[in-house]
Parts: sequence; structure tokens; C-alpha cells
Amino acid sequence: MIQKSTIDQVFDAARVEEVIGDFVQLKKSGSNYKGLSPFTDERSPSFMVSPVKQIWKDFSSGKGGNVVAFLMEHEHFNYPEAIKYLAKKYGIEVEETEQTDEQKQQADERESMYLVSEFAKEFFQKKLLKTEQGKAIALSYFKERGFTNATIEKFDLGYSPDVWDAFTEEALKKGYKLEFLEKTGLTIVKEQKKFDRFKGRVMFPIHSMSGRTLGFGGRILTNDKKAAKYLNSPESDIYHKSKVLYGIYYAKQSIAKEDNCYLVEGYTDVIQMHQSGVENVVASSGTALTSDQIRLINRLTKNITVLFDGDAAGLRASLRGIDLILEQGMNVKVCTFPEGEDPDSFAKANTKEEIEEYLAKNSKDFISFKASLLVNEAKGDPIKKAEVVRDMVNSIAKIPDQIQQEIYLKECTRIMDVSEDVLYSSLAQINAKNTKGGTEKSSQSPRNFEVIKQPKEVKSKVNRQFELERNIISLLLRYGKEQDEFEEYVYREDQDNNLELVLEKHEAKVYEKIFLDLQEDEIEFTNESFKLLYEKIIYEFNIKSDLKIETFINELTPDQASEITAILMAEEKNILHRWVDQDIFVKPKTELEAREVSDTILNLRLHLVKQKVFELMESAKENIAEHHQEILEQVIEYKKLEMNIAERIKRVL
Ligand code: CTP
Ligand code: MN
Repeated sequence: MIQKSTIDQVFDAARVEEVIGDFVQLKKSGSNYKGLSPFTDERSPSFMVSPVKQIWKDFSSGKGGNVVAFLMEHEHFNYPEAIKYLAKKYGIEVEETEQTDEQKQQADERESMYLVSEFAKEFFQKKLLKTEQGKAIALSYFKERGFTNATIEKFDLGYSPDVWDAFTEEALKKGYKLEFLEKTGLTIVKEQKKFDRFKGRVMFPIHSMSGRTLGFGGRILTNDKKAAKYLNSPESDIYHKSKVLYGIYYAKQSIAKEDNCYLVEGYTDVIQMHQSGVENVVASSGTALTSDQIRLINRLTKNITVLFDGDAAGLRASLRGIDLILEQGMNVKVCTFPEGEDPDSFAKANTKEEIEEYLAKNSKDFISFKASLLVNEAKGDPIKKAEVVRDMVNSIAKIPDQIQQEIYLKECTRIMDVSEDVLYSSLAQINAKNTKGGTEKSSQSPRNFEVIKQPKEVKSKVNRQFELERNIISLLLRYGKEQDEFEEYVYREDQDNNLELVLEKHEAKVYEKIFLDLQEDEIEFTNESFKLLYEKIIYEFNIKSDLKIETFINELTPDQASEITAILMAEEKNILHRWVDQDIFVKPKTELEAREVSDTILNLRLHLVKQKVFELMESAKENIAEHHQEILEQVIEYKKLEMNIAERIKRVL
């Protein structure tokens, strides 16, 4: 763990405009900097950086946050990686907390498993590079495959000695517990005896997106037909096969940059392609692709190209897995290699330029590829052809985007030589079946017909409330500590005990006014993240009677920081849009208006009271016999309050 003091130093030193300036060309624009969004293709700049608040906002993708959030988005770093990057840039020494033996024991189970895996990785590496046996048997094997020293080091390749318990013994000696050696699968315990799972194999560590060692693949070095060529770590608390892609840690930046991901089958395919300079490659490690794996890629790009071996007997079987990719709205291409070649051998024999040229020339759109392949197989066999048509339409039905569906249907019509009508009607059939399945699930609710009109109502209600709560946060952020005179109409009893509205004025700080008013009504935010933010902001004001955005934001979760950024930059967005659309210069609204504060609070109160009335009426319907009277009395009270607040809002206007 990085020490808190290091993190504080990094935040003190880092300037968001300097850090982003290394990646995006920024131009001064008023008190901000402006540039082209690094996350989308755009011609007019909608990317803003505020040196004052130390935040950035990309209006074309909606992303935003502090300096660390930028590095996490743009470089796909995790949090510690981002901190370390900044520390390096600003010449700050990173201090990590040392773990004592006691702490080591206390670290939770998963953490222990990570530690064991990390130790194993280093152990195997040392055996490969520093022992005679390793050099003679394993290193020479990698060299023979064409891997350079730099590649071997980069992918942390290793060797597990050809001794029954070399690793287990060393790990136990170093104080790692047998429990975790077993749980990670590195050691197999049988009848009191302990064995190394990977004895005598060359080792491929499998990393998470952020570079942690999760498990291993081990390749045999002999031609023993009885033993498996590759052996992998078993499923464990830290290694979930279906959620991991081999090479993603090394490929993530390139995938985002190239806006495409090549998917291959094996460890060596990834490594060899990398060595040739094509770095946006990951492997499913020989198993069928899963939705979770696709989701990992989907975070980085919408485009995926599946590379098939030349002798792909399994090619037909793989087609179905690709439907999963379509389902996530991704664009899929496929590329096959010449007979007898796989990405490994092809990359080894060709230069980067040759590989890129081959891939560009031979990548075909998946739907067209599948249609051509299948229709060829079904030549002259009408029954088989009907099957192919259905199969194709099934694939197309997985695509979420309707326009794209239509384009593909037309394409299939051409390739398979069937009429458009046939394809359209079978697509309609499948769609109908799918939606029917969907409604069946949701109609299990007993109060069937009431459900239909509710969603709309709920939605507008939620939106209004969301907006008001957001406005309160916005007011706090922009003017929280400013003092002003608030005018307010309140009900007072006159001499004859009649209520009358009178104007009252009092001085207060904005945060005090908001806090006290909301507390008076015991108002709670309904939106969980606003509620948390509100509490944090009020706490900050109460303790320090000030809120420095540029430090406050660093203590929030990325989601909270992004929310705050959106709120703070809302004004800029306005200006930006009007500039672009109409060439009008707009003066930013930066001055506190006391009325805006009172208005917002009153409106939120009114809204909540209305909602309370609505809820009470609903519950009155359900409790006809019991408590009915009681509830109605409450309704009347709240109705009075509602009118009262409504009247006050009218007076203010
Ligand atoms: N695989 C596996 N277990 C096996 C065989 C294969 O887990 N018994 C996985 C490995 O991740 C391997 C991938 O499937 O990298 C592809 O298998 P294959 O094509 O047989 O291996 P190659 O990568 O071509 O291996 P090599 O070139 O080393 O023979
Ligand atoms: Mn191979």
C-alpha cells in the first residue's frame, strides 16, 4: 500500500492542467483551458480543464473528475498506478507501508493469495534466469520459440524446476502458509504429501487488468503425449477463469488507442504478436469466450477482431461464441490465417508492417463471413440452407442496434441469395419470441394492470427530485461559505390568533441556511450519492467553515468526484454550447443570488410534501378499515403545509 503521506504530497504537487497537457493540446479560454476530447473524435473542442478547481470535464463523453481520474480514464491505470505515475512526474518518492509478520498474518485471505502468487511469480522467474537447469532447459526453449530477453522479462515468464516440491518447500520456508499455497493451486496436497502443481513446466503468469498476478499457465517441455500440454491454475477466490483475459494488462492502452482488440487463442500468440509490435492482443486461453471477458474489452473499445488458426477445425464451433460479442453491441470482425499457421507462427515470420497489412486485408465482417461460410457448406441442400438462414437471423437478432440489424439483413440477402421478406419475417418472429419471454417475467406481479401507468409517473417524479437535490449540492459547492441576507415569508400569528404571512430578513451563510432549513423539515435526500455528498460537504463546512474543491475532490470516490465535476462544470457547458451554436458571448453566472437559494429549498420542500401526501393517499387506499381516519388526518395536515409552502414560493417570485 502506498502511504497516505505520499498520496497527500502527490496531490499537493500535481497540477491537472500540466498532467493533461502531456496528452491533450490545451488552449487558455477565460479562466479555463479548452481542448479536443481525447475520448471521442471531435472537431470543435468540448474538453475543459479548470486550473482553479483542479478538475476536468469532457462534455462529449460525459467523463470528468480530478487529475487521478484523468489518468485512470486515459491511461487505464488503477489508482496506485496513477499515484505512482504522478509521483514520478513530480519527483516524489513513493513510500509504501512495510508489512510486519503480524500484519502479514492479519491480511485477509484474498490478499494472502495474491501475495503467494506474487512470490511464486518471482520464484519461477529466478529459476528461469538464474539457475543452470532453468537456463539450460527452459530459457533455451523460450529462445528457440523466438522470444527475446526483453519479451521474457516483460511477460514475467518463468520456470518451475523439475523437482517434486521445490517451490512448495521454498514458499513454506519463507513463511507462506500451506493453506494459501493449496488454495491458489500452486501446491497439491495428497495423503500428507505436498507436490508442486507445475513441476518441470515453463510458466506464464496470468495478470489482472491492473497487473496483479492471479494465476498461471504452465507448458510442458517434453513430448509426453499422456500429460496435458498446458496446465492452468484452478478456479480460486482470486482467479476466475471466465473473467480474465490473458494479456489484458499489457494490451489495454493499445486497445483503447487503436480502438480495436485482437482476440487470439493462446499465450504464445499474444506474446509473439506483442514482440512484433502489435500490442492490442488478448487471449481467451483456449476456452470459449464468456460475457464477462467481453465486458473487459468493451470498456476499452467497441471493436473486436477474432483471429482464427489456419487449420481451425474448431472454427464452426467458435461461431456461436461470437454471438455473445454481438449481444454486447460490439462490432465483430474475423480473420483467418493461411493453412497451418496461427498468430504465433505468423507473427514470428513477419514484420509489424506485414502483419498489419495482412490483418487489414483479410479481416472480414463477422456476419458476412459466417453467411458465406455456411452457405457454401449448404450448397445444393435446401434443408440445410433453411437451417443456415435461421442460424444467421438468430445471430442478427442479437445485435441491439436496429439500424445495424437492417444493414446486416440486406447483406445476408445478397450473400445467401434469399428474399429480403423471408429474412425480415423470421427476424420479426425471433424478436417477438424474445420480447414475449421478457414480458412474461415481469407480469408475474399480482397487481397487473396498475403497473402499466406507473413507470412514467415515477420517472418524472424522480427526475424532478433528482434535479432539486442536485441544485442544493450545486449551491453548496458554488456559494457555500458566502454570507447573504435572506428574505423569507413566514407565517406568524397576529393579535387575533390569525395566521398571516410576514416578510422576515436574516443574515446567514448559504450552507447554514440550507442545513438549518432542511433540518427543520427533517428532509433526507432520496438519491444515495447526493445524500452522501451532502453529508460530506456539510461536515466539511461545519468543521473547517470552508470547502476547498481542489482538495475536497481528492477524498471522494471516482463516482462522487465525477458527479461533483459535472455539477461544477454545468455553467461552462452552457457557455460552451451557446458559443458553438450561436457565437454569443455569455457571462458566466458566478454571483450568489439569495433568492435562488431560498427558491430551491422551498421547491424541494414542496416536492417532498407533495410526495408525502401521495404516499399517504396510497396507503389510505390499502388500509380502508384500519388507521383510515388517522391517515386522512395526516393528509389534511400535509395538504395545509403544501399550500403554505406554495404560497410562500409565489410571494418570493
Ligand atoms: N490450452 C490449455 N490447456 C491445454 C491446451 C491448450 O489451457 N491442454 C490453452 C492455452 O492457453 C493455450 C491455448 O489453449 O495457449 C491454445 O492452445 P494450443 O493452440 O494447443 O497452444 P499454443 O498456444 O499453440 O501452444 P504451443 O504453441 O506452445 O504449442
Ligand atoms: Mn502454437
